[in-house]
Formats: sequence, C-alpha cells, structure tokens
Amino acid sequence: MLSVASVDGRGVEPVLRRDADPAESARASRGWWDRQAPGYYVEHGEFLGDVDFLWGPEGLREGAAGLLGDVAGRDVLEIGCGGAQCARWLATRGAQAVASDVSHGQLTQARRLNRETGIDVPLVQADAQHLPFADESFDVICAAYGAVPFIADSAGLMREAARVLRPGGRWVFSTTHPMRWCFRDDPGQRGLVVEASYFDRRAYVEQDKNGNATYVEHHRTFGDRVRDIVAAGLTLVDVVEPEWPDDNDEAWAQWSPLRGRLMPGTVIFVAVKEKVASTPPVG
Ligand SMILES: C[S@@+](CC[C@H](N)C(=O)[O-])C[C@H]1O[C@@H](n2cnc3c(N)ncnc32)[C@H](O)[C@@H]1O
Repeated sequence: MLSVASVDGRGVEPVLRRDADPAESARASRGWWDRQAPGYYVEHGEFLGDVDFLWGPEGLREGAAGLLGDVAGRDVLEIGCGGAQCARWLATRGAQAVASDVSHGQLTQARRLNRETGIDVPLVQADAQHLPFADESFDVICAAYGAVPFIADSAGLMREAARVLRPGGRWVFSTTHPMRWCFRDDPGQRGLVVEASYFDRRAYVEQDKNGNATYVEHHRTFGDRVRDIVAAGLTLVDVVEPEWPDDNDEAWAQWSPLRGRLMPGTVIFVAVKEKVASTPPVG
C-alpha cells in the first residue's frame, strides 16, 4: 500500500491486508531490504544525499527543521538508518552518532558510504524492537522513515526508545501520515479516492506463494501513535506535517506533488523523556 520504495521485484506478488506479528514483520523487512538495498540507493540516493538528513519525500531536511535541537556533543542513535545518511550528517554537526538497522544489505550500503565520504559512523545491525544498548545510553534518538512503518508492535517500539533514552532526551521519528492508508498507493488521480477504512489496522502484506510475508508495513491511526508515545512515559511536544513545497517536482513512489499539495504524506512526532522532578528541599 505505502511503498517507501518502488524498485524492482514489487507488484508481482499477491498483496493483501492481514495481521503480521513482530517476528514475521522483522523477517520480511530484513529480507526485503537486503534484496532491495542497492536498487533503493540507485533510485533515491541522490535525493537523500550521502551526508544529509531528509525527513521525508516532501524534502524537509533537519538543517531547516531543527527538530533534534543542538546535537553537538550529544550521543545520538539513528534507528532504521538505511545508508546512514542522517547519522553521517549528525556527525558533521558534532554529534557522537551511532546508526543501526535490521538489514545487512542496507548496512553494506552504509559502510560503502562511510568509506566514500570519509565520515565513519559506527554501524550496528539490530532490530529496533530489541535495541542492544543499555538503559539511558542516548541523548537523542531519531528515525527518518526508519523502522517505525515496518514494526508490528508500535507501543513496544516506543517503550524501547524510551528505555535507551536519557532523562531530558528526545525521540523524533517520521513515518507515513496515517490518513494515506485510506488511499490507493498511487501518485496520480487514482490516489485521490478513498478506498479503505482509516480504522483498518491490519498490515499491508506482500507474500510469496507459500503465504510467507516478503514485505510488510503497519498502519496506526494518529490517536494510536499519540497513545503509544504517552504510554511509554514520554511527552509529545510537537507534531510536524510537512507541506509539499512548490520547488519539489520529484515523486517518490506514492508521494507526489499532485497529492502532496492536497494532503499530508508524512508525519513527524517529537517526544521528550522528562527529567524526574527533584524533590524540593525540606523546610
Ligand atoms: C525507508 S528506509 C529509511 C532509511 C533512510 N532514512 C532513508 O530514508 O532511506 C527504512 C529502513 O528501516 C529499516 N527497518 C525495517 N524494519 C526494521 C526493524 N525492525 N528494525 C530496524 N530497522 C528496520 C529497513 O531495513 C530500512 O533500512
């Protein structure tokens, strides 16, 4: 439904809406991104920039958005990093950035780009649902369409981010705007007609002839995401819905100028882990 990539090999397998549990989803994502990583880079690498932080197809970049605050000297974790473009950009801003992804194929691209740019961010292969980091390890965690759209247990992911975040830290992630799930995955006129229920939380699944998922994306409503963030003990401080700018005429799969001028395609949630209030002195 909401392909973040439109590279080879998609569309030939049956697609449907059905449940997909966390293990099946992670397995499908790992396989799909391993296979598609080189093609994804060829198709989107230039727009992403090898050392840049792109929040989504609208073209909003962190240099302009400033959603992470001043990262200089901060420990920053990027999850679902793909080619680690964002982490590399953060390193140029003085952050101690670590980039993680479930896909070895994506991390192979990241390693190549580290070499070619000379900005060598540490890379960690990990499922974002089980981050291999101690509690309170990072000041900032970010994901630009990384991991979040592909994870079945959204509430668990928010808890995991909250766990590795230090008090006072910030968790910022972009994902497909939930309202897009009402529409066909089509950048043109056909993508302007409501065809599905916004309230249908079943996953979008592509599967092989044996019924094994080969690609999975998960839908949560706006309210679900807010509830998951709050339930993880975080405070939601901002929600950004980037508008499609006049100077961007580049479609990215279902995200196109036509649709972007009429409705949001990306949502960015900004949450913080509050510092525990200190006990007032007695007397
Ligand atoms: C659309 S890419 C985002 C990367 C980069 N910001 C970009 O825009 O190209 C999504 C990334 O999420 C990763 N991913 C999917 N499921 C994941 C999971 N369970 N844990 C960690 N990463 C995951 C994929 O491997 C992929 O690299």
